[in-house]
Amino acid sequence: MSTDVTKKSRHEEMMGLADRALDHFQNHTTDMAPEPMQMPVEAYTNQERYVAERERIFKNLPLALALSLELPEAGDYKAMTVMETPIILCRNDQGSVKCFLNACRHRGARLCEDGRSSSRVFACPYHAWTYDRDGSLIGIYAAETFGELDYSQHGLTELPCEERSGLIWVGLTPNLHFDLDEWLGDFAAELDTLALADWHLHESRVLQSPGWKITMDGYLEAYHHNLVHGKTVGKHTVGNLLVLDTYGPHQRLTFGRKTLGDLNAQEKSAWNPEEHIRLIHSCFPNLSISGILGDHCLVSQIFPGPEPDSTETVQYILAARPPETAEQIEATENFSAMVLQAVKDEDYRIGFSIQQSINSGANQSFLYGRNEPAVQNYHAWVDRFMTQDA
Ligand code: FES
Ligand SMILES: [Fe+2]
Repeated sequence: MSTDVTKKSRHEEMMGLADRALDHFQNHTTDMAPEPMQMPVEAYTNQERYVAERERIFKNLPLALALSLELPEAGDYKAMTVMETPIILCRNDQGSVKCFLNACRHRGARLCEDGRSSSRVFACPYHAWTYDRDGSLIGIYAAETFGELDYSQHGLTELPCEERSGLIWVGLTPNLHFDLDEWLGDFAAELDTLALADWHLHESRVLQSPGWKITMDGYLEAYHHNLVHGKTVGKHTVGNLLVLDTYGPHQRLTFGRKTLGDLNAQEKSAWNPEEHIRLIHSCFPNLSISGILGDHCLVSQIFPGPEPDSTETVQYILAARPPETAEQIEATENFSAMVLQAVKDEDYRIGFSIQQSINSGANQSFLYGRNEPAVQNYHAWVDRFMTQDA
């Protein structure tokens, strides 16, 4: 019963989005902010400001660092270096995911290399101290010669970590307290509709990308789609048409697919709205989940580099189910190749060109049009976090 109700209301939600998108399509309009917005270029380049933003935003807010489906079983772990911080995410025997700094409590050696694997224990390569899946210190090599040590005080340093909506969220500062339900608000239910934990991870990869704000801007508007992505994702998308919903700092962007106009010829009762729109869930500050073609999904994480001019993007290519037939494998590989081209050769190519001229003095400020409301909101939230207490 409750599933039917959920399904029905989801269908109604999609009908409403398709209706709003179709209205824009017919009128050549889009959701708009009240005014254009100006941002000093310094907000993209100033080193001091950048360091402060990295600390305040990326190290003090929950970040989605992994997909639940990357760690399905007890003992599965993912080691990664996030903004120069080495961490391990590990599913323990009770099924919860824990996050530790990847640094031995004896003298700081890295316990394992970055990557995904499974293990009963983490053994330090330097002097073989061992830790269990909860990060507790359980063994010291030649303990009888080492001297007195309180094991309970020498477990791995834990970072706050919670799993929600198929994602694993971490605060990169030890002892940081966050309330994930409050942070996500109604966006959690939105993310739940994606059922991220049920997808199949086809592959993931890291792309070198331009500076943080240049990179993020490109994920938040449809203004460039037909021009930049005419041969890839733009083939499927109506350019400069955006239906926007906000959930605090998080945003849901709805784009129209090229078939959107077909709905004009159909009775509403016959609409299958999801075939004609495309949703992007943008989770502040650095996660984008983009369903481009029904059975495939691109998840992107953007991590600021040590300087304002670079980021790393992690792309995850998801398929609704493991591709088995030659046809399914080809479809998944085509999707993966298409989004790689769209992001690396199209978006980031332009982004790097912006990066090259950004210190030239050509612009004192950048502009976000009325038709780029999600970009405006993003920067307004960055400013809000920088000027207000949490
Ligand atoms: S640094 Fe790990 S056991 Fe010595
Ligand atoms: Fe793009």
